[in-house]
Amino acid sequence: MSAEVTKEAVETVLDRARARSLLLTDCVDDTELIAQHSPLMSPLVWDLAHIGNQEELWLVRDVGGREPVRRDIDDMYDAFKHSRPTRPELPLLDPAESRQYIRTVRGKVLDVLADSNFDGKPLERSGFAFGMIAQHEQQHAESMLATHQLRSGPAALVATPAPAVRRKPLHDEVVVPAGPFVMGTDDEPWALDNERTAHQVYLGPYAIDRFPVTNGEFIEFIDDGGYSRPELWSRVGWRHRIDAKLTAPLFWERDGSTWWQRSFGTDKPVATRRPVVHVSYFEAEAYATWAGKRLPTEAEWEKAARWDPESGRSRRFPWGDDAPDETRANLGQRHLSPADAGAYPDGASAYGVQQLIGDVWEWTSSGFHPYPGFHAFPYREYSEVFFGGDYKMLRGGSFGTDSVACRGTFRNWDHPIRRQIFSGFRCARTLSGHV
Ligand SMILES: [Fe+2]
Repeated sequence: MSAEVTKEAVETVLDRARARSLLLTDCVDDTELIAQHSPLMSPLVWDLAHIGNQEELWLVRDVGGREPVRRDIDDMYDAFKHSRPTRPELPLLDPAESRQYIRTVRGKVLDVLADSNFDGKPLERSGFAFGMIAQHEQQHAESMLATHQLRSGPAALVATPAPAVRRKPLHDEVVVPAGPFVMGTDDEPWALDNERTAHQVYLGPYAIDRFPVTNGEFIEFIDDGGYSRPELWSRVGWRHRIDAKLTAPLFWERDGSTWWQRSFGTDKPVATRRPVVHVSYFEAEAYATWAGKRLPTEAEWEKAARWDPESGRSRRFPWGDDAPDETRANLGQRHLSPADAGAYPDGASAYGVQQLIGDVWEWTSSGFHPYPGFHAFPYREYSEVFFGGDYKMLRGGSFGTDSVACRGTFRNWDHPIRRQIFSGFRCARTLSGHV
């Protein structure tokens, strides 16, 4: 998405989001759509109608000023009013009604889009509300993908294999010298409130891993007693490790000397060159301590990803300002797994750090706080109510994230115990002296 947003571009991202939602819900039968596959997730049919309801609220009613389609269901699909475990008890629209509802809403939205001139009220400027809704639908598509990973039963999704590398690359660190950089954005048209404003941050020298930590590296941590050595864990992390009986990443199982991983209904030996996924913040933190390192802060992650020391500006993406494509990042549920470390050399940042965008969300050590000059837009519930909560920031997007909901400035947050999300990490280290 360039700074100049066209209606064609808006329609493309809305269409792509809808195709994804339908693919994720048409591949299983109605019983599976209504079922709750895990108390951590909504029934898929709730996600589907909720997507339509948010689209109706923001685009049909607010931007378009049109009559409500289904005002009577607003409460049921309000994520703040009903927590995930309670959603199956609601008198939800059934699958056929949900599909009809989202189709009706989308038809009206296309009329609103045709009438909009992308200026006037802030919500409409550069098509922001349309972009926000496309991002929202794709974020639910990623949640629905997580639901698919949690459901039992045979595989329902098909994907092409992720790219592999023939020779294992050197898993070294990249040095980022001390100095200022620009964090956040003022001019990304569809950036959300928490990504704003652009501001200068000074960082001391540090080193950051060129690649996310791989399964093979994580197995070394397990084999070295990583899950049974409290000194590697934070106090709260260790308590959680004991309570939740963590012994390996989620969906892993050991058979003799082989680790197996369940992935969307199929069991496969763990692929050692791929970034590890489905680990909590606490596991990432323990690994980093074991490796003699630490997790990067959010600012360190973003400087390594976006700052171009030569031009003295921050890029939209690690490789530059062009939108992601399949040669640069593993996004968009194309492969349904991370790709080998080293599979995207063309996606390297100015410092040479790779696979920052796509593959796995990367835990950072930072909590969720506003940037200087923050103001809530378009509503407090998007970000502000979460500031200062029990969250850690995740950056970069995963193989399950669409490019519309992923950029160098995009900020995601979750509880440190979470691991049904597509979460991994890379490590960093403070350097002393002049670099
Ligand atoms: Fe939502």
